[in-house]
Amino acid sequence: MQNLHTRINVILESTTPIDDRLQMICQLLSDEIDYYNWVGFYFKNGDRNELKLGPYVGEPTDHTIIPYGKGICGQVAESNEVFVVPDVHAQDNYLACSLTTKSEIVVPILKDGENIGQIDIDSHVIDPFSQEDVDFLTYVCDKIAEII
Ligand code: SME
Repeated sequence: MQNLHTRINVILESTTPIDDRLQMICQLLSDEIDYYNWVGFYFKNGDRNELKLGPYVGEPTDHTIIPYGKGICGQVAESNEVFVVPDVHAQDNYLACSLTTKSEIVVPILKDGENIGQIDIDSHVIDPFSQEDVDFLTYVCDKIAEII
């Protein structure tokens, strides 16, 4: 995971449109970390208290709009905190995307203290996410906040 920092910086510092850069980040994370099986971004939808799906890699999802408070993503939109879900079946407030998803991590993108979006990662294995993932994805989100 350490050696991905440089590749992430190169992508984010390029001059291609932001959505293309975010798409490349999704692809990189999905390719390089075997238990990252769906990688995507949600962003606040204008003035509405809802999230809108952004660039992603993985199976298409029905959850293109998520109201604040709903599911893991909607909870992170309100809490501003990282949410690690070792076993999605143990969660009541969860929006299922795929039957193969076993666990999930959502990390907010905070810009000047404001929660503008998040990275959402689903995994096909139970309980794969460690503090290393939290630190790494927080780094990615902080870098994204700098260019948005
Ligand atoms: N599982 C998420 C919904 C988004 S999908 O995982 C792509 C949630 O509960 O918010």
